[in-house]
Amino acid sequence: MGGCALGKYLITAALPYSYAPRHFGHLAGAYLPADIYARFRRLLGDHVVFVCGTDENASSIVLEAMKQKMTPKELCDKYYPIQKEVFEKLGISFNIFSRTSKPVHYEVVREFYNRLWEKGYIYPREIKQWWCPKDKMVLPDRFVKGTCPRCGAEDQYGDVCEVCGSWYESFEIHEPKCTLCGTRPEIVKKVHFFLKLSSLTKEVLEYVKDKKHWRKATYNKTVSWLEKEGLRDKDITRDYEWGPPAPFPNSENQVIYNWAENLLGYISATRDWAENILMQKEAWKEFWMDKETKLYCFIGKDNLFFHTILFPALLIAHGEYVLPYNVVVNEFVNLEGEKISTSRGWVIWLHDLLDDHDPDIIRYYAAAIAPETKDTDFKWQDFAEKINNELIGTLGNFIHRVLTFIYQRLGGVIPNPGELSEKDKEMLEECCRIVEAFRERVEACEFREGLKEILRLAQEGNRYLNEKSPWKDLREAPRTLYVLAQVVHALTVIMSPYLPFTSQRLLDYLNIDKNVEELRWSDVEKTLMPGHRIKEPKPLFKKIDEEYVAKKMKGLEELKKNLH
Ligand code: MF3
Ligand code: ZN
Repeated sequence: MGGCALGKYLITAALPYSYAPRHFGHLAGAYLPADIYARFRRLLGDHVVFVCGTDENASSIVLEAMKQKMTPKELCDKYYPIQKEVFEKLGISFNIFSRTSKPVHYEVVREFYNRLWEKGYIYPREIKQWWCPKDKMVLPDRFVKGTCPRCGAEDQYGDVCEVCGSWYESFEIHEPKCTLCGTRPEIVKKVHFFLKLSSLTKEVLEYVKDKKHWRKATYNKTVSWLEKEGLRDKDITRDYEWGPPAPFPNSENQVIYNWAENLLGYISATRDWAENILMQKEAWKEFWMDKETKLYCFIGKDNLFFHTILFPALLIAHGEYVLPYNVVVNEFVNLEGEKISTSRGWVIWLHDLLDDHDPDIIRYYAAAIAPETKDTDFKWQDFAEKINNELIGTLGNFIHRVLTFIYQRLGGVIPNPGELSEKDKEMLEECCRIVEAFRERVEACEFREGLKEILRLAQEGNRYLNEKSPWKDLREAPRTLYVLAQVVHALTVIMSPYLPFTSQRLLDYLNIDKNVEELRWSDVEKTLMPGHRIKEPKPLFKKIDEEYVAKKMKGLEELKKNLH
């Protein structure tokens, strides 16, 4: 165990649009896996910077601000603390939760595109744009809707098709309509700046080709996209006033397009961290400019193209930064068999879940149904069953049985085991094997499997406890409970990336004066010494009752009735 060389890990989770609260699907699909991985890496002793922040310069934000009769800045200021708080409550351990409206981000974007301009990756070209005669404005991206030029899906925004995932220029869409007033826009001409993506297809393909450790679907989708479609040059400037200005000659009054700047938010967030949290201004370079750094990006499948193709292309063009080592892409979580729809209210908001449940309950279920290889389903009945049977019935119960036995029958003191029998040794060996299997799973970003190993350890412990029945034969009690105390201790360590709040409580019950963040992998092997005194254990979780499930189901049924 242990013995791995220390590494540097940059871990990113998709930057949420500032005004769009996160729902359960986002947690299970990006933030929780990212957090588990970050906590796991810190546990191993690696250097980790885990960054995120709000994505504040999108056209959708300008649009939403108009709807709410605010400036984009006011809108972002209103939502930033809300986003931040939800992540904090859930124990998502970002080293920084930054914002792409900060000066440091503008600075990063300016430097980045200056360099791309100097290296000849940017050129001006006259383009056609939609212009609404009624609103008297150009309609970029979200301001225009129409039919997807690639797959024919109706009612798609001007930049990305949500049906086929294509990324195109606004003027390519058919049957355009202004999103503000519904008018059919006219065409106007304008000089914009283009990124020479077409020249990077080969390099991106080469980069992707040795990423055999990516999830299969991610790898295959990326390669087939590059081989079939190749990359087209992209218009990366826009004509509104919100966002980082384009730094090119004669680009006054233009800003950088959202998907050409938000990805750089990972870099600016790291700089923000170095300067304002670590207080070592240049420390971000030790991560972004060291080839040995492993960059892991955690995202949902709707962001795949941007992270597996566009981001690497931008970084290759720039030339000084590390490229993603892994892009961990998750599928979606549905709700009771139907696609989540925030506009129709068919969604489980994280802030609502947090009103009802401890964060580790939410984290447990999100890890248990993480959509790693296919879409999964949030079901209230299943939620109650998994929490009641697995988290409480298997894990919580086992730990509680062991700790109460020691506390009540053995005076709260870890007993002196004397000579261990074959069975006792087997239990300890099994514990080591499971812990090792756990490490392999989490290292490979197979988080559901990792969680199963935690449960397996509790199951094995339970089985051993029942077999030995120390309550029947008190002579067996010292050996059995000594062994089981070690198992509970190992569980405390390995559950910490998944269930940090519970792990913290267990450290307290075990009377180990440590913060969960201070745990290290080598602690798994440390033993609780005979004579060590524990504290009074309390039950770890509260069961979910049938009434609660019924109430939630009823709410959804009513929602459905109103929708149809
Ligand atoms: N804001 C985008 C979304 O919610 C994700 C942006 S990820 C970034 O879908 F890295 F590009 F910022
Ligand atoms: Zn389409």
